[in-house]
Amino acid sequence: MKKTLKYFVLLASMFLVTGSLVAIAGIPQDKSHGIGPVKTVELGPLNKKWVDEGRGIFNTQCIVCHDLSQKKLAPILGNITKQRSPEFIMNLLLNSAQMQKEDPTIKALMKEYNNLPMPDPLLNQAKARSVLEYLRSVAK
Ligand code: HEC
Repeated sequence: MKKTLKYFVLLASMFLVTGSLVAIAGIPQDKSHGIGPVKTVELGPLNKKWVDEGRGIFNTQCIVCHDLSQKKLAPILGNITKQRSPEFIMNLLLNSAQMQKEDPTIKALMKEYNNLPMPDPLLNQAKARSVLEYLRSVAK
């Protein structure tokens, strides 16, 4: 009986240690792909042309609500590529209305941001990919 308890405590502490290591190292825990047309994104070295196009889109269409380092009307995006999968980010850009209705992460964020739904940025897949590339380029 005592032995079982010892093993249980050992096992529980192993879980705890792993959990806190993951938290401390900042290893992304949310690997959800969201909901939408993008199933897999191949990430290579940064494509400078896409980064430039993405920066242009970000500075005209996103900056009103999002900042890279400060909380404005919407979540900070400086390190978003470390927090969400590339598929999740692209699906949100291409399919925001459905994700606002059905995706648990986005539903929770909407609550946090006063039910302000992010407007559909009306991007095609290539442009959404460029925005993703820009967001990758700013992540630390
Ligand atoms: C009118 C304000 C507004 C604009 C413009 C806007 N967003 Fe958002 N965005 C939001 C809000 C609010 C949320 C939180 C979820 C929600 O309420 O839909 C959000 C969520 C996000 C998220 C998810 C953040 C997370 O933590 O998972 C990403 C990524 C994102 N936006 C990217 C963009 C990009 C890229 C653009 C420009 C193409 C953009 N947004 C334009 C308001 C905006």
